[in-house]
Amino acid sequence: MTARFITFEGIDGAGKSSHIEAVAAHLRTRGAAVVLTREPGGTPLAERLRELLLHAPMDHLTESLLVFAARRDHVQNVIAPALARGDVVLSDRYTDATFAYQGGGRGFDAKVLSTLENWVHADLQPDLTLWFDLPAEVASARRAAARTPDRFEQLDTAFFDRVRGAYAQRAAQAPKRIARNDAALRFEAVAQQVLKVLESAGW
Ligand code: TYD
Repeated sequence: MTARFITFEGIDGAGKSSHIEAVAAHLRTRGAAVVLTREPGGTPLAERLRELLLHAPMDHLTESLLVFAARRDHVQNVIAPALARGDVVLSDRYTDATFAYQGGGRGFDAKVLSTLENWVHADLQPDLTLWFDLPAEVASARRAAARTPDRFEQLDTAFFDRVRGAYAQRAAQAPKRIARNDAALRFEAVAQQVLKVLESAGW
C-alpha cells in the first residue's frame, strides 16, 4: 500500500473512535504501516492546545485560530512526515471538523476558515474521509451514558444539529472523498459499511 491520509469525522457520540482501531487492524493485515493520530492533538504542543480548547472559555475566532495552530504543528511534525515515508495516516478528525463545529455549530465565518486552511495546509487534503452520521438526539443519549462532558459536549442538541448539517453539506460538495456511514446502527453493522468503503477504494 502507498501513502494514504484517511480521516474520521462525526458529531460527538457517533462512535467514530472505536472504528479507527478496526480500520488500523484491517490495513495492517494488508501490509500498511499505520500511524494513528487525532485532532486537536497528535503532538505534544497540539495536545496542550487541545486541553485549552476543550476546557478554557474563549471566543469563536480564538477557538478557530487555536484549532489551526494545533493543526499546523500536527501536519508539520506528524502527518506530512508519515505520508512522505509512505505510511497510512488515520486521523480522528481534521479540517472537516473545523467547518462543522466552528463553521456550522458556532456560526463562525467559513471564508475566514478557508483562508486559515489555505495558510495551514493548502494542499494536504485527506484521500478519504469516513463520516459517522447519526441524529443529534441519539448521539446525545450515547454521550450521557458514557462520559463527563467537555466544552463542546455540553452544548445543546441544536448545536449538534447544525454541526451535523455542516458535515452533510461538505459531504454533498465532496462526494468522492467523504463516505457517509450510518452510525445509528449497531457497531458490527457500521464496521461492515466501513470495510465496504475501504474495499471499494481497493484497500
Ligand atoms: P474528539 O477527539 O472527538 O473528542 P473525544 O476525545 O471526546 O472523542 O474531539 C474533541 C472536540 O473537539 C470535539 O467536541 C470536536 C472539537 N473540535 C472542533 O471543535 N474543531 C476542530 O477542528 C476539531 C478537530 C475538533
